Amino acid sequence: RKKITLGSIRTLYKRGEPITMLTAHDFPSGHVADAAGMEIVLVGDSLAMVAMGMENTNEVLMEEMLLHCRSVARAAKTALIIGDMPMGSYEISPEQALESAIRFTKEGRVHGIKLEGGAEMAPTIKKITTAGIPVLGHIGLTPQRQNALGGFRVQGKTCAGAMRVLEDALAIQEAGCFATVVEAVPAEVAALITKRLSIPTIGIGAGNGCSGQVLVQVDMTGNFPPGRFLPKFVKKYGDVWGESLKAIHAYRDETKSRAYPASEHTYPIPQAELVEFER
Ligand code: KIV
Ligand code: NA
Repeated sequence: RKKITLGSIRTLYKRGEPITMLTAHDFPSGHVADAAGMEIVLVGDSLAMVAMGMENTNEVLMEEMLLHCRSVARAAKTALIIGDMPMGSYEISPEQALESAIRFTKEGRVHGIKLEGGAEMAPTIKKITTAGIPVLGHIGLTPQRQNALGGFRVQGKTCAGAMRVLEDALAIQEAGCFATVVEAVPAEVAALITKRLSIPTIGIGAGNGCSGQVLVQVDMTGNFPPGRFLPKFVKKYGDVWGESLKAIHAYRDETKSRAYPASEHTYPIPQAELVEFER
């Protein structure tokens, strides 16, 4: 397969073919997303929870994001790789944001970065894209601002709220975003925003009228124990946790019963050598 570039994303968008994006946080998850043909692989700061066991995305550090980006970059040979700028790495000034974006490119080895926010981030987005680093926007529900938003709440549920999301979308498009994530927005609102824009929208909890979709890999592959809370928009396509548990149980049982390792898992020694050794 050919390497995915901003040009390929543009071509998919113009053709009306939905763009597929999935998160990855290490070499194996990057490898499988790439092998499955994901056009964009996002090293999301959701790795704070799914790979590091943190409460939310706010405590993940720049250095930690960069380390995970490097692992994914070694695995993804075809996909466009986007690194998620963590809270605190881009809000202070456009200069700070550009410095962080450069670190993502040089140390994280990603092809572009994502940052959360709307119209207020326009000068920052402009600064980064002008330096030649592609920026993916993220509007609607912005998890890094969950404390200010009063939790994980659907955005754009009123006419005024929907107008705000649309204005944010137009502002970050004007600032140079090549596409934008639209999170937790009513389907009709996301569809209308998609129609008004001339860049692709990548939806998560935003209905099927977007130009593409994104999900967190461990959510959609079911790589978590039963009982965990899942947002309404997640579809569990697999049971990786169940499969892993089954395999590890079987290994435990066979080790306890000495059924493993069997002769096919052991190295032979010529009979004559063995006889001499045993003497
Ligand atoms: O961190 C993340 O995984 C994300 C996606 C859900 C868009 O930001
Ligand atoms: Na994120």
